[in-house]
Amino acid sequence: MTAIADLAADLAAARFTVDALGGLWGEDAAAALHRGQRVPALRALERVGSSPLATLARALVLGLPVAPEALAAALPGLGLDGAVALGLVDAGGSPLLDLRPYSFVDGTGVVSWWIASDLGELALGGPIPEDHVLGVGGASATLSGLMIGTPVDVALDLGTGCGIQALHAARHAGRVVATDISERALHLARFNAELNGVTNIEFRAGSLFEPVAGERFGHVVSNPPFVITPRSAEGVPSYEYRDGGMVGDALVASVIKDVEAHLEPGGVAQLLGNWEYGAHDGLARVEQWVRFTGLDAWVVERERQDVEQYAETWIRDGGTRPGPEFDVLYGAWLDDFAARGVTHVGFGYVTLRRPASGGPTLRRFEVLDGPVAGPPDAAALLAAHDWMHGRDLLAERLTVAPDVTEQRHYWPGDEHPTVMDLRQGSGFARTVPLGTALAAVVGACDGTLPLGAICAAVADLLEVDAGELTAEVLPQVQELVLVGMVTGDRGR
Ligand SMILES: C[S@@+](CC[C@H](N)C(=O)[O-])C[C@H]1O[C@@H](n2cnc3c(N)ncnc32)[C@H](O)[C@@H]1O
Repeated sequence: MTAIADLAADLAAARFTVDALGGLWGEDAAAALHRGQRVPALRALERVGSSPLATLARALVLGLPVAPEALAAALPGLGLDGAVALGLVDAGGSPLLDLRPYSFVDGTGVVSWWIASDLGELALGGPIPEDHVLGVGGASATLSGLMIGTPVDVALDLGTGCGIQALHAARHAGRVVATDISERALHLARFNAELNGVTNIEFRAGSLFEPVAGERFGHVVSNPPFVITPRSAEGVPSYEYRDGGMVGDALVASVIKDVEAHLEPGGVAQLLGNWEYGAHDGLARVEQWVRFTGLDAWVVERERQDVEQYAETWIRDGGTRPGPEFDVLYGAWLDDFAARGVTHVGFGYVTLRRPASGGPTLRRFEVLDGPVAGPPDAAALLAAHDWMHGRDLLAERLTVAPDVTEQRHYWPGDEHPTVMDLRQGSGFARTVPLGTALAAVVGACDGTLPLGAICAAVADLLEVDAGELTAEVLPQVQELVLVGMVTGDRGR
């Protein structure tokens, strides 16, 4: 057995899992940990006493020193020397890496991995170094949650970091190419693949698409280093894990521009990104980037921050606390934004697809900044678009999706509602306002009558012109089909 296999066997024997850690310190401490606070978890560990699991939790998750003998007992197969050789701890039992369980549910059930990354600010007790390799953060989980699971031959994870997206992609791709500019990230990503027994990932060093020149993929995923960082100011740290070294949002623009050459026909790219708002609308800016590609696009803005909030977020993220150094960095960020007239920064999800044939038919840019009801399903939106494209929807028998409900609001005592809307119970939890005609049409979409016949019957009932009603309702129903609130019989 290799040292990494010994480590995996020891972690499994200690039941080093998300559930077992939750059982050890409880939900509230787990939530505090998620917010970057370890005191509740530490107090819980002190209460439960010693065990291999508690030792591993203290050293590898909380980043605190443990007695070398306790660590040796918690990792009996690997031993202390093995742990030191792997770079997990030093000989005195002080942690050098963060290693924690990670689990998720997919079509096959619950999947559990262990993910190693660099020690965070909490364990280091100060700002993180510029070559820090990030663990699984909020953005990582967002992208992996969005990831389309359609089988492909080869996938690309651009900027793999600890390898989390590549590991996810390896579940539906025959082979994954994972790239990063950071050798340290590639080392940890390789370590994580081996630790979790994943053998179909190839790791390559290099910037952006350089390591895959001339290659095409069925699926490209990337949580790229999109954080907008002042370039000309002295003393501003340039964290490899979040800063691609370009001015403003140019890195995201370049990934969008260049990914087309690396997609097979029908191939899909899923990215996260930031875009700047100033004199120009930020989403319109993304539209411009996409305009000169031959790609289908669906871009969702999830959040917009003013530049002050943005600067504060990313200065804090590096571990710098309020004080003179913080203020200098804050000034540098604001100067950089002011130089380009930027007032706000948008964050969101970019789905791009190289059409299987012909030119692009989908270009959709929208702001959806409310709470979601579950992971948004990009594959379903693309499939609904394809199904509808070039089809006479009026001839189709449509059905309201099972997660959709109608809400009606009445003035007290009134017989007729003043407001009606449709609510989606999954994905983006969209709310669509309903006029009288659309409400009546959607209410009759039970798969029995074609849409055209429903429109004619509703026009009759409302005593309005059937052509005019159909012209009003058709684009609204098309929108409902696209977002999955109404479905057609795609089998026909
Ligand atoms: C935000 S992290 C994402 C890590 C991981 N994929 C995830 O989702 O958690 C961005 C990664 O891109 C890498 N990176 C930075 N500049 C790069 C470049 N020019 N080319 C490729 N990767 C780069 C960083 O080293 C880092 O690992």
